[in-house]
Amino acid sequence: MNAQDQALLDRVTAVFTEQFGHAPDLVVRAPGRVNLIGEHTDYNDGFVLPCAIGPANMVAISKRDDDRVDVVAADFDDARDSFALIPPPERNLSQPWADYVRGTLLVLQNDGHALSGAKIAIAGNLPKGAGLSSSAALAVAVGKANLALNGIDIDNRRLAQIAQKAECDFVGTQCGIMDQLISAQGKADHALLIDCRSLEVTDILIPDDVAIMIVHSGVTRGLVDGHYNDRRRQCEAAAAAMGVSALRDADLDNLAAANLDAVTTARARHVITENQRTLDAADALAKNDLVTLGMLMAQSHASMRDDFEITIPAIDDLVALLQNAIGDQGGTRMTGGGFGGAAVAIMPRARVADVQASINAAYKTPNGDAPLIMIERPGPGVAIL
Ligand code: GLA
Repeated sequence: MNAQDQALLDRVTAVFTEQFGHAPDLVVRAPGRVNLIGEHTDYNDGFVLPCAIGPANMVAISKRDDDRVDVVAADFDDARDSFALIPPPERNLSQPWADYVRGTLLVLQNDGHALSGAKIAIAGNLPKGAGLSSSAALAVAVGKANLALNGIDIDNRRLAQIAQKAECDFVGTQCGIMDQLISAQGKADHALLIDCRSLEVTDILIPDDVAIMIVHSGVTRGLVDGHYNDRRRQCEAAAAAMGVSALRDADLDNLAAANLDAVTTARARHVITENQRTLDAADALAKNDLVTLGMLMAQSHASMRDDFEITIPAIDDLVALLQNAIGDQGGTRMTGGGFGGAAVAIMPRARVADVQASINAAYKTPNGDAPLIMIERPGPGVAIL
Protein backbone atom coordinates (compact mmCIF):
# COMPACT_ATOMS: atom_id res chain seq x y z
CA MET A 1 0.00 0.00 0.00
CA ASN A 2 1.36 3.45 -0.86
CA ALA A 3 1.90 6.14 1.79
CA GLN A 4 -1.13 8.19 0.71
CA ASP A 5 -3.50 5.20 1.08
CA GLN A 6 -1.84 4.14 4.34
CA ALA A 7 -2.35 7.61 5.86
CA LEU A 8 -6.01 7.60 4.81
CA LEU A 9 -6.51 4.06 6.14
CA ASP A 10 -4.97 5.06 9.49
CA ARG A 11 -7.20 8.12 9.67
CA VAL A 12 -10.49 6.38 8.84
CA THR A 13 -9.66 3.53 11.25
CA ALA A 14 -8.76 5.96 14.03
CA VAL A 15 -11.97 7.97 13.61
CA PHE A 16 -14.04 4.80 13.51
CA THR A 17 -12.41 3.43 16.68
CA GLU A 18 -12.71 6.71 18.53
CA GLN A 19 -16.39 7.16 17.66
CA PHE A 20 -17.61 3.58 18.04
CA GLY A 21 -15.21 2.17 20.67
CA HIS A 22 -13.85 -0.75 18.64
CA ALA A 23 -12.02 -1.46 15.37
CA PRO A 24 -14.05 -1.75 12.11
CA ASP A 25 -14.81 -5.13 10.52
CA LEU A 26 -13.59 -3.98 7.14
CA VAL A 27 -12.49 -0.96 5.13
CA VAL A 28 -13.29 -0.24 1.48
CA ARG A 29 -11.46 2.19 -0.80
CA ALA A 30 -13.04 3.79 -3.90
CA PRO A 31 -10.99 6.21 -6.03
CA GLY A 32 -11.85 9.54 -7.60
CA ARG A 33 -11.31 9.96 -11.31
CA VAL A 34 -10.02 12.32 -13.91
CA ASN A 35 -11.66 12.36 -17.32
CA LEU A 36 -9.13 12.78 -20.14
CA ILE A 37 -11.78 13.56 -22.77
CA GLY A 38 -15.48 12.93 -23.46
CA GLU A 39 -17.41 15.48 -21.39
CA HIS A 40 -21.21 15.44 -21.04
CA THR A 41 -21.27 12.54 -23.46
CA ASP A 42 -22.08 9.80 -20.93
CA TYR A 43 -25.77 10.63 -20.48
CA ASN A 44 -26.05 10.91 -24.28
CA ASP A 45 -25.13 7.20 -24.61
CA GLY A 46 -21.70 8.27 -25.91
CA PHE A 47 -18.02 7.68 -25.16
CA VAL A 48 -15.75 8.80 -22.29
CA LEU A 49 -12.06 8.25 -21.51
CA PRO A 50 -11.46 8.57 -17.76
CA CYS A 51 -8.94 6.98 -15.41
CA ALA A 52 -9.13 6.31 -11.69
CA ILE A 53 -6.63 8.34 -9.65
CA GLY A 54 -4.75 7.96 -6.35
CA PRO A 55 -6.89 10.16 -4.09
CA ALA A 56 -9.94 8.26 -2.83
CA ASN A 57 -12.67 7.88 -0.25
CA MET A 58 -12.46 5.16 2.38
CA VAL A 59 -15.35 3.69 4.32
CA ALA A 60 -14.75 1.75 7.56
CA ILE A 61 -17.71 -0.35 8.64
CA SER A 62 -19.05 -2.78 11.25
CA LYS A 63 -22.46 -4.41 11.74
CA ARG A 64 -25.11 -3.30 14.19
CA ASP A 65 -27.64 -5.87 15.31
CA ASP A 66 -30.63 -3.64 14.60
CA ASP A 67 -31.55 -1.68 11.46
CA ARG A 68 -29.99 1.67 12.40
CA VAL A 69 -27.13 3.18 10.46
CA ASP A 70 -24.76 5.54 12.29
CA VAL A 71 -22.35 7.48 10.14
CA VAL A 72 -19.47 9.79 11.01
CA ALA A 73 -17.74 11.96 8.38
CA ALA A 74 -14.13 12.62 9.33
CA ASP A 75 -13.75 15.36 6.72
CA PHE A 76 -16.72 17.35 8.03
CA ASP A 77 -15.53 17.77 11.63
CA ASP A 78 -16.78 14.32 12.57
CA ALA A 79 -20.36 15.32 11.69
CA ARG A 80 -22.81 12.49 12.38
CA ASP A 81 -25.87 11.12 10.67
CA SER A 82 -28.15 8.41 12.04
CA PHE A 83 -31.15 6.85 10.35
CA ALA A 84 -33.13 3.60 10.15
CA LEU A 85 -33.20 1.33 7.08
CA ILE A 86 -36.92 0.66 7.63
CA PRO A 87 -39.01 2.62 6.82
CA PRO A 88 -36.76 3.66 3.91
CA PRO A 89 -34.55 6.68 4.68
CA GLU A 90 -35.55 10.09 3.40
CA ARG A 91 -33.21 12.90 2.45
CA ASN A 92 -31.16 14.50 5.19
CA LEU A 93 -30.81 17.80 3.25
CA SER A 94 -28.92 19.58 6.05
CA GLN A 95 -25.78 17.52 5.35
CA PRO A 96 -25.31 16.89 1.62
CA TRP A 97 -22.65 14.19 2.16
CA ALA A 98 -25.14 12.15 4.19
CA ASP A 99 -27.54 11.87 1.26
CA TYR A 100 -25.01 9.84 -0.72
CA VAL A 101 -24.99 7.30 2.12
CA ARG A 102 -28.76 7.29 2.61
CA GLY A 103 -29.45 7.18 -1.14
CA THR A 104 -27.03 4.33 -1.82
CA LEU A 105 -28.46 2.18 0.98
CA LEU A 106 -32.00 2.89 -0.18
CA VAL A 107 -31.23 1.89 -3.78
CA LEU A 108 -29.39 -1.25 -2.62
CA GLN A 109 -32.45 -2.30 -0.63
CA ASN A 110 -34.77 -1.52 -3.55
CA ASP A 111 -32.47 -3.68 -5.68
CA GLY A 112 -33.36 -6.60 -3.40
CA HIS A 113 -30.36 -6.71 -1.06
CA ALA A 114 -31.13 -7.37 2.60
CA LEU A 115 -28.89 -5.08 4.65
CA SER A 116 -28.19 -5.01 8.36
CA GLY A 117 -27.69 -1.81 10.34
CA ALA A 118 -24.14 -0.51 10.37
CA LYS A 119 -21.61 1.79 11.98
CA ILE A 120 -19.74 3.70 9.31
CA ALA A 121 -16.82 6.13 9.25
CA ILE A 122 -15.92 8.01 6.08
CA ALA A 123 -12.69 9.81 5.21
CA GLY A 124 -11.21 10.95 1.92
CA ASN A 125 -8.32 12.84 0.40
CA LEU A 126 -9.97 14.08 -2.80
CA PRO A 127 -10.12 17.86 -3.05
CA LYS A 128 -13.80 18.83 -2.76
CA GLY A 129 -15.46 20.66 -5.63
CA ALA A 130 -12.56 19.95 -7.99
CA GLY A 131 -14.66 17.88 -10.38
CA LEU A 132 -12.75 14.70 -9.47
CA SER A 133 -15.86 12.77 -8.42
CA SER A 134 -15.54 12.57 -4.68
CA SER A 135 -19.30 12.05 -4.39
CA ALA A 136 -19.36 9.13 -6.85
CA ALA A 137 -16.41 7.58 -4.99
CA LEU A 138 -18.35 7.95 -1.75
CA ALA A 139 -21.45 6.20 -3.11
CA VAL A 140 -19.37 3.39 -4.64
CA ALA A 141 -17.40 2.87 -1.39
CA VAL A 142 -20.54 2.92 0.76
CA GLY A 143 -22.27 0.45 -1.56
CA LYS A 144 -19.35 -1.98 -1.68
CA ALA A 145 -18.77 -1.77 2.09
CA ASN A 146 -22.40 -2.53 2.98
CA LEU A 147 -22.59 -5.38 0.48
CA ALA A 148 -19.35 -6.90 1.78
CA LEU A 149 -20.52 -6.50 5.39
CA ASN A 150 -23.56 -8.60 4.54
CA GLY A 151 -21.61 -11.18 2.54
CA ILE A 152 -23.17 -10.07 -0.77
CA ASP A 153 -21.10 -10.04 -3.95
CA ILE A 154 -22.37 -8.18 -7.03
CA ASP A 155 -20.33 -7.22 -10.06
CA ASN A 156 -18.78 -3.78 -10.11
CA ARG A 157 -20.80 -2.67 -13.12
CA ARG A 158 -24.03 -3.26 -11.19
CA LEU A 159 -22.52 -1.51 -8.17
CA ALA A 160 -21.80 1.53 -10.38
CA GLN A 161 -25.38 1.54 -11.66
CA ILE A 162 -26.70 1.48 -8.10
CA ALA A 163 -24.44 4.38 -7.07
CA GLN A 164 -25.55 6.35 -10.15
CA LYS A 165 -29.22 5.71 -9.35
CA ALA A 166 -28.66 7.02 -5.82
CA GLU A 167 -27.27 10.25 -7.24
CA CYS A 168 -30.01 10.65 -9.89
CA ASP A 169 -33.09 9.56 -7.96
CA PHE A 170 -32.18 10.48 -4.38
CA VAL A 171 -29.70 13.37 -4.52
CA GLY A 172 -31.28 14.79 -7.68
CA THR A 173 -28.39 15.29 -10.13
CA GLN A 174 -29.29 13.63 -13.43
CA CYS A 175 -25.71 12.40 -13.91
CA GLY A 176 -24.43 9.78 -16.33
CA ILE A 177 -22.57 6.57 -15.46
CA MET A 178 -18.95 7.67 -16.04
CA ASP A 179 -17.87 8.60 -12.51
CA GLN A 180 -19.34 5.61 -10.74
CA LEU A 181 -18.18 3.16 -13.42
CA ILE A 182 -14.56 4.31 -13.40
CA SER A 183 -14.47 4.38 -9.59
CA ALA A 184 -15.78 0.80 -9.60
CA GLN A 185 -13.81 -0.58 -12.57
CA GLY A 186 -10.66 1.56 -12.81
CA LYS A 187 -7.45 -0.22 -13.79
CA ALA A 188 -3.89 0.66 -12.74
CA ASP A 189 -1.83 2.28 -15.53
CA HIS A 190 -4.83 2.42 -17.90
CA ALA A 191 -7.43 4.88 -19.06
CA LEU A 192 -10.76 3.24 -19.88
CA LEU A 193 -12.63 3.97 -23.09
CA ILE A 194 -16.21 3.43 -21.97
CA ASP A 195 -19.14 3.00 -24.31
CA CYS A 196 -21.84 4.46 -22.09
CA ARG A 197 -24.60 2.69 -24.02
CA SER A 198 -23.33 -0.90 -23.85
CA LEU A 199 -21.05 -0.22 -20.82
CA GLU A 200 -18.35 -2.06 -22.73
CA VAL A 201 -14.90 -1.00 -21.56
CA THR A 202 -11.62 -0.94 -23.52
CA ASP A 203 -8.35 -0.53 -21.53
CA ILE A 204 -5.82 1.89 -22.99
CA LEU A 205 -2.34 1.68 -21.48
CA ILE A 206 -0.79 4.99 -20.47
CA PRO A 207 2.95 4.55 -21.04
CA ASP A 208 5.26 5.01 -18.03
CA ASP A 209 6.89 8.09 -19.49
CA VAL A 210 3.56 9.91 -19.87
CA ALA A 211 2.32 11.98 -16.94
CA ILE A 212 -1.18 13.12 -16.06
CA MET A 213 -1.29 16.49 -14.31
CA ILE A 214 -4.40 17.83 -12.60
CA VAL A 215 -4.51 21.51 -11.65
CA HIS A 216 -7.37 22.73 -9.45
CA SER A 217 -8.50 26.21 -10.50
CA GLY A 218 -9.50 26.93 -6.90
CA VAL A 219 -13.04 27.67 -8.05
CA THR A 220 -15.18 24.95 -6.51
CA ARG A 221 -18.17 23.57 -8.28
CA GLY A 222 -21.51 22.06 -7.27
CA LEU A 223 -23.37 19.68 -9.53
CA VAL A 224 -26.78 20.17 -8.01
CA ASP A 225 -26.92 23.83 -8.92
CA GLY A 226 -29.17 23.25 -11.90
CA HIS A 227 -26.81 23.97 -14.79
CA TYR A 228 -26.02 20.30 -15.14
CA ASN A 229 -29.63 19.17 -15.35
CA ASP A 230 -30.34 22.03 -17.80
CA ARG A 231 -27.65 20.80 -20.16
CA ARG A 232 -29.04 17.30 -20.01
CA ARG A 233 -32.55 18.52 -20.86
CA GLN A 234 -31.21 20.50 -23.84
CA CYS A 235 -29.42 17.41 -25.16
CA GLU A 236 -32.53 15.28 -24.81
CA ALA A 237 -34.62 17.92 -26.58
CA ALA A 238 -32.12 17.98 -29.45
CA ALA A 239 -32.16 14.18 -29.76
CA ALA A 240 -35.98 14.10 -29.70
CA ALA A 241 -36.18 16.79 -32.39
CA MET A 242 -33.87 14.71 -34.61
CA GLY A 243 -35.92 11.57 -33.97
CA VAL A 244 -33.07 9.62 -32.35
CA SER A 245 -33.09 8.03 -28.90
CA ALA A 246 -29.82 9.74 -27.87
CA LEU A 247 -27.31 12.19 -29.40
CA ARG A 248 -24.96 9.22 -29.82
CA ASP A 249 -27.07 8.32 -32.85
CA ALA A 250 -26.97 11.74 -34.54
CA ASP A 251 -24.36 13.29 -36.84
CA LEU A 252 -23.69 16.85 -37.99
CA ASP A 253 -25.82 16.37 -41.13
CA ASN A 254 -28.82 15.36 -39.01
CA LEU A 255 -28.18 18.42 -36.87
CA ALA A 256 -28.04 20.80 -39.84
CA ALA A 257 -31.25 19.31 -41.26
CA ALA A 258 -33.09 19.66 -37.94
CA ASN A 259 -32.97 23.45 -37.93
CA LEU A 260 -32.97 23.82 -34.15
CA ASP A 261 -32.52 27.11 -32.29
CA ALA A 262 -28.95 28.36 -31.91
CA VAL A 263 -28.42 27.27 -28.31
CA THR A 264 -29.81 23.75 -28.75
CA THR A 265 -27.77 23.38 -31.95
CA ALA A 266 -24.59 24.38 -30.13
CA ARG A 267 -25.23 21.97 -27.23
CA ALA A 268 -25.84 19.07 -29.62
CA ARG A 269 -22.82 20.02 -31.75
CA HIS A 270 -20.61 19.74 -28.67
CA VAL A 271 -21.84 16.23 -27.87
CA ILE A 272 -21.72 14.95 -31.45
CA THR A 273 -18.19 16.24 -32.08
CA GLU A 274 -16.98 15.26 -28.58
CA ASN A 275 -17.99 11.64 -29.15
CA GLN A 276 -15.81 11.45 -32.25
CA ARG A 277 -12.93 13.26 -30.52
CA THR A 278 -13.06 10.74 -27.67
CA LEU A 279 -12.77 7.78 -30.04
CA ASP A 280 -9.94 9.52 -31.89
CA ALA A 281 -8.19 10.40 -28.61
CA ALA A 282 -8.33 6.77 -27.42
CA ASP A 283 -6.67 5.82 -30.71
CA ALA A 284 -4.00 8.49 -30.36
CA LEU A 285 -3.28 7.52 -26.75
CA ALA A 286 -2.97 3.85 -27.69
CA LYS A 287 -0.36 4.88 -30.29
CA ASN A 288 1.37 7.22 -27.79
CA ASP A 289 0.70 10.06 -30.23
CA LEU A 290 0.65 12.99 -27.82
CA VAL A 291 0.56 15.60 -30.59
CA THR A 292 -2.78 14.36 -31.95
CA LEU A 293 -4.08 13.81 -28.44
CA GLY A 294 -3.15 17.39 -27.56
CA MET A 295 -5.01 18.78 -30.58
CA LEU A 296 -8.13 16.80 -29.69
CA MET A 297 -8.01 18.02 -26.09
CA ALA A 298 -7.70 21.63 -27.27
CA GLN A 299 -10.73 21.16 -29.55
CA SER A 300 -12.63 19.60 -26.67
CA HIS A 301 -11.93 22.57 -24.43
CA ALA A 302 -12.99 25.06 -27.12
CA SER A 303 -16.19 23.11 -27.67
CA MET A 304 -16.98 23.07 -23.92
CA ARG A 305 -16.29 26.81 -23.80
CA ASP A 306 -18.11 27.97 -26.94
CA ASP A 307 -20.82 25.39 -27.64
CA PHE A 308 -21.62 23.75 -24.32
CA GLU A 309 -20.76 26.88 -22.28
CA ILE A 310 -19.60 25.09 -19.14
CA THR A 311 -16.16 26.62 -18.65
CA ILE A 312 -15.43 29.76 -16.63
CA PRO A 313 -12.78 32.44 -17.27
CA ALA A 314 -10.43 31.14 -14.55
CA ILE A 315 -10.38 27.69 -16.16
CA ASP A 316 -9.96 29.12 -19.67
CA ASP A 317 -6.95 31.08 -18.40
CA LEU A 318 -5.49 28.06 -16.64
CA VAL A 319 -5.88 25.88 -19.74
CA ALA A 320 -4.23 28.54 -21.93
CA LEU A 321 -1.29 28.77 -19.51
CA LEU A 322 -0.93 25.00 -19.39
CA GLN A 323 -1.06 24.67 -23.18
CA ASN A 324 1.55 27.34 -23.53
CA ALA A 325 3.84 25.58 -21.03
CA ILE A 326 3.35 22.12 -22.56
CA GLY A 327 3.77 23.13 -26.23
CA ASP A 328 2.56 20.62 -28.79
CA GLN A 329 3.85 17.47 -27.07
CA GLY A 330 0.67 16.88 -25.08
CA GLY A 331 -2.56 18.63 -24.25
CA THR A 332 -4.92 20.08 -21.70
CA ARG A 333 -8.59 20.82 -21.15
CA MET A 334 -11.10 21.36 -18.38
CA THR A 335 -12.14 18.05 -16.84
CA GLY A 336 -15.47 17.11 -15.24
CA GLY A 337 -18.93 18.63 -15.24
CA GLY A 338 -17.83 22.27 -15.51
CA PHE A 339 -18.51 25.66 -13.88
CA GLY A 340 -15.24 25.48 -11.93
CA GLY A 341 -13.08 22.56 -10.93
CA ALA A 342 -9.83 21.41 -12.48
CA ALA A 343 -7.87 21.20 -15.72
CA VAL A 344 -6.26 17.94 -16.79
CA ALA A 345 -3.04 17.88 -18.80
CA ILE A 346 -1.10 15.07 -20.45
CA MET A 347 2.58 15.42 -21.26
CA PRO A 348 5.87 13.55 -21.37
CA ARG A 349 6.98 12.91 -17.78
CA ALA A 350 10.21 14.78 -18.54
CA ARG A 351 8.20 18.01 -18.99
CA VAL A 352 6.45 17.88 -15.60
CA ALA A 353 8.86 19.96 -13.50
CA ASP A 354 8.97 22.81 -16.04
CA VAL A 355 5.22 22.91 -16.55
CA GLN A 356 4.63 22.83 -12.81
CA ALA A 357 7.04 25.71 -12.27
CA SER A 358 5.44 27.87 -14.94
CA ILE A 359 1.91 27.26 -13.62
CA ASN A 360 3.00 28.05 -10.08
CA ALA A 361 4.49 31.30 -11.31
CA ALA A 362 1.62 32.33 -13.59
CA TYR A 363 -1.67 31.08 -12.09
CA LYS A 364 -3.27 32.15 -8.83
CA THR A 365 -6.57 30.89 -7.42
CA PRO A 366 -9.28 33.50 -6.68
CA ASN A 367 -7.85 33.65 -3.12
CA GLY A 368 -4.45 34.58 -4.50
CA ASP A 369 -2.88 31.22 -3.63
CA ALA A 370 -0.79 28.92 -5.81
CA PRO A 371 -3.03 26.20 -7.28
CA LEU A 372 -3.14 22.60 -6.07
CA ILE A 373 -1.22 20.52 -8.65
CA MET A 374 -1.46 16.73 -8.63
CA ILE A 375 0.69 14.38 -10.70
CA GLU A 376 -1.18 11.13 -11.16
CA ARG A 377 -0.84 7.64 -12.58
CA PRO A 378 -4.05 5.71 -13.24
CA GLY A 379 -4.92 3.52 -10.25
CA PRO A 380 -7.25 0.59 -9.55
CA GLY A 381 -11.00 0.73 -8.91
CA VAL A 382 -12.93 -0.03 -5.74
CA ALA A 383 -11.45 -2.64 -3.39
CA ILE A 384 -11.86 -4.13 0.06
CA LEU A 385 -8.60 -3.48 1.89
C1 GLA B 1 -20.27 14.83 -13.92
C2 GLA B 1 -21.27 13.67 -14.02
C3 GLA B 1 -20.84 12.68 -15.10
C4 GLA B 1 -20.53 13.38 -16.42
C5 GLA B 1 -19.62 14.59 -16.20
C6 GLA B 1 -19.44 15.40 -17.45
O1 GLA B 1 -19.04 14.36 -13.46
O2 GLA B 1 -21.37 12.99 -12.78
O3 GLA B 1 -21.83 11.69 -15.26
O4 GLA B 1 -21.70 13.73 -17.08
O5 GLA B 1 -20.11 15.45 -15.18
O6 GLA B 1 -18.77 14.68 -18.42
